Amino acid sequence: KSVLKDAYAGKFYIGTALNESQIEGKNEKEVALVKEQFNAIVAENCMKSERIHPEENTYDFTLPDKFVAFGEQNGMQINGHTLIWHSQAPEWFFEDGDGNTVSREVLIQRMKEHIHTVVGRYKGRVKTWDVVNEAVLDNGNLRKSKFYEIIGEDYLKLAFEFAREADPEAKLYYNDYSTALPEKRKGIVRMVRKLQEQGVSIDGIGMQGHVDINTPAIEEFEKSILAFSELGVKVMITEFDMTVLPSPWEKTGAEVSAKFEYSKEMDPYKEGLPHNIVRTFDSRCAAFFKLFLKHEDKISRVTFWGVNDGNSWRNNWPVPGRTDYPLLFDRNNQPKSAIDSILA
Ligand code: XIL
Repeated sequence: KSVLKDAYAGKFYIGTALNESQIEGKNEKEVALVKEQFNAIVAENCMKSERIHPEENTYDFTLPDKFVAFGEQNGMQINGHTLIWHSQAPEWFFEDGDGNTVSREVLIQRMKEHIHTVVGRYKGRVKTWDVVNEAVLDNGNLRKSKFYEIIGEDYLKLAFEFAREADPEAKLYYNDYSTALPEKRKGIVRMVRKLQEQGVSIDGIGMQGHVDINTPAIEEFEKSILAFSELGVKVMITEFDMTVLPSPWEKTGAEVSAKFEYSKEMDPYKEGLPHNIVRTFDSRCAAFFKLFLKHEDKISRVTFWGVNDGNSWRNNWPVPGRTDYPLLFDRNNQPKSAIDSILA
């Protein structure tokens, strides 16, 4: 039987993202599969600020504590996701008691308290943190998030400094999606280089890797691995999955923030996948893993965003209610043929 973590032992960790029911041990088959196949874990949602820090003086460590304990009991590398992100952040973070926007000083203080508390609690146990998530736009400019608007570009430097104070040993990462886009690649390189010039200690760049069966070009992905590692940092593939469904972006030409309605033509594989799509999926997965292996000296971890097709977020994003097949295990936790292609 093929075991992913054994196949890549000594090269890079093979990780998966755990959802709430897996962390609570509710789905025994999925939990068994996680233990069998993976040696690294990340929390899909429960460490995001709106979950772990829902109100100013209220933290909810229930699930995060279970998540970390699960990793330790099973000898897995434990990864933290994510400290500073514009999305899934609680409203209160940016507002005072009267609903007005907080001052720069207050937001910096809140960032500091949040990062010190969360990172400090798991010091020495959570080995890597996605300190900042998705700060760069596809055009390479910095995202005008509330952190940026209220604090200014300095919020990036401060986030890494606070995390470093809280756990000097943890590996600190910048994480983003669509990192193979040339303009975005350049923007990330610019941003990280600037941080390094300011003396900020940053250990790596996470490439989320939410790809689809047609894009991005493998060569562009490789250029990003090379450009990032030339900064002297490690690269991780943090959220790998490969949607087989039609892309609504191309169809509408809309901004990423646009909302899409469910439509039948957007959901063609409800009854199963045709063989030609399976073959394309398998060979593209194999091509990506061939690339990761080629650069195993630069890559510390490859993590899948979910355990099986049934619990992938891709079934609901960017169009809700579709049937997608983006991972290596099917809805019954059985290995898909893509695993053979990858390992071959
Ligand atoms: C997604 C989760 O998978 C969903 O369950 C949730 O509803 C939204 O967030 N980039 C990230 C991840 O960094 O945190 C996102 O996870 C997927 C995109």
